[in-house]
Amino acid sequence: MRITHCQLNHLTNPLGYDLPELTFSWQVEQAEGKKQTAARIVIRRGQDPVADTGWGDLDSLGTAVPLMQEPRTRYTWTVSVRTDAGEEAESAPQWFETGKLDEPWAARWIGCSDAEPRHPIFERQIAPKGAVRSARLYCCGLGLYELRWNGKKIGREYLTPYCNDYDLWVQYQTYDVTSLMTGPGELSVLLGNGWYKGRFGFGGEEKPWYGDSWKLLCELRLTYEDGTEEVVGTDEGWQVTRSAITFSNIYDGEQRDDTLGPTAPEPARLTDAPKGVLTARHSLPVIAQETFRPMDLVITPAGEMVIDLGQEITGIFRLRVHEARGARIRLQFGEILQNGNFYNDNLRTAKAEYRYISGGGETIVEPRFTFYGYRYVKVEGAEHFLMEDFTGVALYSDLPMRGELTTGNELVNKLIRNTRWGMADNFLDVPTDCPQRDERMGWTGDAQVFSGTALYLADAYAFYGKYLYDMALEQEVNGGMVPNVVPAFGIVSMGCSSAWGDAAAIIPWNLYLYTGDAAILRRQYPAMKAWVDYITGIDGADHAWRRHFHFGDWLALDNPAGGADQVKGATDDGFIADVFYRRSAIIVAKTAALLGKDEEAAQYRALADRILQGIRDEYFSPNGRCCIDTQTAALLTIGEDLSDKNRAAAALERLLSLSGGKLKTGFVGTPLLCKVLTDCGIAGRAYDLLLSEEYPGWLYEVRMGATTIWERWNSLNPDGSISSTGMNSLNHYSYGSVVEWMFSHCAGLKPMEDVPGFRRVKIAPALDPRLGRLSMVYPSAAGCYRVNWEITGPREVTLCVTVPFGCEAELTLPLSEEPAQTLNAGTYQFRYRTSRPIGAALTADDPIWKLMEHDRAREALLQAYPDLLRVPPMMRDQSLRTLLVSYAGDAAGDAIRAINEMLSSL
Ligand code: BGC
Repeated sequence: MRITHCQLNHLTNPLGYDLPELTFSWQVEQAEGKKQTAARIVIRRGQDPVADTGWGDLDSLGTAVPLMQEPRTRYTWTVSVRTDAGEEAESAPQWFETGKLDEPWAARWIGCSDAEPRHPIFERQIAPKGAVRSARLYCCGLGLYELRWNGKKIGREYLTPYCNDYDLWVQYQTYDVTSLMTGPGELSVLLGNGWYKGRFGFGGEEKPWYGDSWKLLCELRLTYEDGTEEVVGTDEGWQVTRSAITFSNIYDGEQRDDTLGPTAPEPARLTDAPKGVLTARHSLPVIAQETFRPMDLVITPAGEMVIDLGQEITGIFRLRVHEARGARIRLQFGEILQNGNFYNDNLRTAKAEYRYISGGGETIVEPRFTFYGYRYVKVEGAEHFLMEDFTGVALYSDLPMRGELTTGNELVNKLIRNTRWGMADNFLDVPTDCPQRDERMGWTGDAQVFSGTALYLADAYAFYGKYLYDMALEQEVNGGMVPNVVPAFGIVSMGCSSAWGDAAAIIPWNLYLYTGDAAILRRQYPAMKAWVDYITGIDGADHAWRRHFHFGDWLALDNPAGGADQVKGATDDGFIADVFYRRSAIIVAKTAALLGKDEEAAQYRALADRILQGIRDEYFSPNGRCCIDTQTAALLTIGEDLSDKNRAAAALERLLSLSGGKLKTGFVGTPLLCKVLTDCGIAGRAYDLLLSEEYPGWLYEVRMGATTIWERWNSLNPDGSISSTGMNSLNHYSYGSVVEWMFSHCAGLKPMEDVPGFRRVKIAPALDPRLGRLSMVYPSAAGCYRVNWEITGPREVTLCVTVPFGCEAELTLPLSEEPAQTLNAGTYQFRYRTSRPIGAALTADDPIWKLMEHDRAREALLQAYPDLLRVPPMMRDQSLRTLLVSYAGDAAGDAIRAINEMLSSL
C-alpha cells in the first residue's frame, strides 16, 4: 500500500505561498483494503511535532489542520493511513515553507529614472562570509521582473510577479537560492512593464492601468552553517544599469537593440511602495511547458518568409541570430494564413511583434516581458535565417494535467486535443478569453463556462483559487459586483452581466463538486453571497435585473438580424438573467447549509423559490410552456428544472428539426446542449451534433484545420477566409465545454453532489456506434477512474471500469435491462448482449420513404398512422418528425419518443 498525491491546499511542497488555512489531502494506491478506516497527520518543525491530529476519521479529500505559522519556516508533514484490511502505511515526508507573513521587510522599495526607455537592471554584489546552509530570496518587481545570479536566470518562472489587480494586492515570490551561494557573485533584477505599467485593456491607449514607475523589493536571507544570519535588502546601495530592451508590453511585444553599449551604473533611488497589499504568492508558476520546432518554412505568394509551428500556442520563442551588426530583424505573430499570406488583422490593435537589432556575432534572443498567441511567424530582416534557428516555447501555468479521453473517431480525438490546447493557451496565470488580440483578459463568463471541462482535464483547484481570490477582492471594492473581467484593469465602469458575474458562485461550487474540498467554499462564501445580494439590490421590487445590460446567449446563431458579426442571440436576456440569478442563489443556499449556516440557507432557498415564481409568471404559459422559443430557452428550462421538462424536450426537438438538426446556441446554451439531450434519453441527437462536420458544429472547425477552439462557430468560412475581424479569435476555449459532456456522459463518469470529489460517482456511459469505442482515464481528487467501452458485435458491448481505493460507483450498464449496481474499489470487466440494437438503425428523423422501405417499421407505423400511405411522393423526402411537428407542434414530442422507442426495439 502506498500513500500518494499528498498535497497541501492542492499544491505539492509549496514554497512561500499564502496559506492562511492549511488543508491536507492524499490518496491511497496498491492497497488490499477497499477503504480508509483512520488517518493521522503530523506536522513538524525540525524534529518537533507542532500539530498532531491523532488517529481519527480524517477526510483524505481535505482535512483542515490549525497551525500558528511562523514566518520563513519550513514545516514537514506526513499522513498515515489504516485500511479495512488492517494495513497501515505512512506517506513520504512532505513539506511547506512559509513566506514572510506579517514580519517587516528588511528591504526597501527602490526605483530609477522612468524617462529612459531602456529597461533597468538593478544590481548588487554579494559575498557570503562563510559556508551557507540555506539561502532564500523574497522578491517583487513591477511591472515584471526577472532575477539573475551572475547573469543566469534564477528559477524557471516567466512573467513574475504575475497578473492581478495591483491596486488591491501585489504578490512576491520566494526562491530557494542555497545552491547558488557558493561564492561571491552578482545578484541582478531586470524589470519590464507588463500588466502593471504597460498598455493593457480596451481602447488601444498607451496608458498603464496601475502604475507608471519601475519598482523593486528584494530581500536575500543567508543562513550560515554556524547558525548566524545575514540579510541583504534592496536600498540606495544597489546600482542601476540599462539593458538592451528598449520597449515591452503584453500586446505589442518587445524590442531589443544589441548595438547599444553598456551604461554607467547609477545609484538606485528609494521609492514609494505600490498601492496594493504585498502578499505571498497565490499564482502558480508560469513555466516553459513545451517547445516546438517549426513544421514548415514557407515563402508566401506575397513573398514573405513565414514559419508554421503546426500548433497554435501561447508563449514566446528562442531565436538563434547570426546576422551582421546593425541588422534589423522583425518577427510578427499570427494565428492563420489568408490566401497563403501572413495575416494578423484579427489581433486588432495588438502589434504582437518582436524587433531586434543585431550586435553582430551569434546570439540567442528570447522575449522576457511579453507573450504571443500564435502558430505562424513572419520573419523579416534575417538574411541568414534557417528554420532550425527558431524554437516555439509554450508558456502556461504549472498545473497537473489530468483526464484523458480517446475514441474510435479521429476527428473527435483532435477536438479533445484542441480543447486541451485551448485550455493551456488560456491558462497563463489568469483564465483568459484569448491569448493573442488586444484583450487576453480574465472574462468571467468564459471562465465559468469552461470550468467543468477544465476540472476534467486538469487539477485546476489552485489555479482557479487565485482567480477567485482576485475576484473576491474586486467585489469588495465594488459593493459585491463582479466585474466582467478579473482582474478588472479599471474596466469596472463597464459593469457586470448575468452568466458572467455568476462565475463568483459557479466556479467555487464546481471546485467543491470536483474535489470534495470545501475550503474554497469557506473562503469564497462571503463573495458568493455578496454577488447574489448585489443582484437583489438591483432587482428591487420590479425585476430591474432583467433590464440591466447582459451579454445573454453570446454569439448564438439565432439572432433574427443574422450576419457574421452578430453577437447577441435571440433568447431573452432578462430570462437568462433570472435563471442565473436563481442558480447562484441556490448555490449560496447549498453552501450555507454545508457551512452550518442554516438560517442563511433558508433565506437563499426562499429567494431562489421567489425567483422561480417570477420566471414562471413572466416567461411561461400557465400550462408550463416556455414562451421563449429558442434552443437555449428550452435547454435552460430542462437543465435548470424550471417547468414541465417533457414539453421543453418536445420544443427542443422541434427547434432542432426546424434548424435542420443544427445547433443555434451561444455561450449560455452550448454547455448544456449535449448534456440535456443525453439526459432526455436522446443521446443520438447529441452525438449527431458532436459528429456533424458541417457548420455550425465542433468538427467543422476541426475539419477546417483548427488546432485550438474557435471563438465563433463561423470563425472561418468554408473557403478558409476569416469571417470577420472585429472580434474573431481562433483560440477561445468556451465551446470546448463539450468535452465536459464527453467525460460525464459519453464516458459517463459524473461527480455526485451529496458525496463530492468523485468519492462516490455515477457511471452510465452513453454509447454510440459512430464512436465505436472510448477509453477514459480520470485521475480524480479521490483516485484514478478508468472507463473503457467498445462495441464488439452487432449487439455486444465490452465495458471495463476501474474504481479507485476508498470510492464507490453506481454503474448502469448501457443498453441493458440490468438494474444499476454498486461497485467498490477494483477493476470490473463486462461483456454482454445488449437488450436493444446499438444505435437505432431507424429514427423518426429518417425520411418517410426510408421508413416505409423497412418491412417491420412500415407495418408498425401504418398501424399507428394509416394516413402515412397518403403522403404524396414529393413529400416523402421529409422526415417523419417534420411531418408530425407540422401537424401537432410540441405535442408531437410524446409521439416521436414512442416512435423512436418502437424503432429502436425492431
Ligand atoms: C471576449 C469574450 C467575452 C465577451 C463578452 C469578448 O470580447 O473575448 O469571450 O466573454 O467579449 O461578451
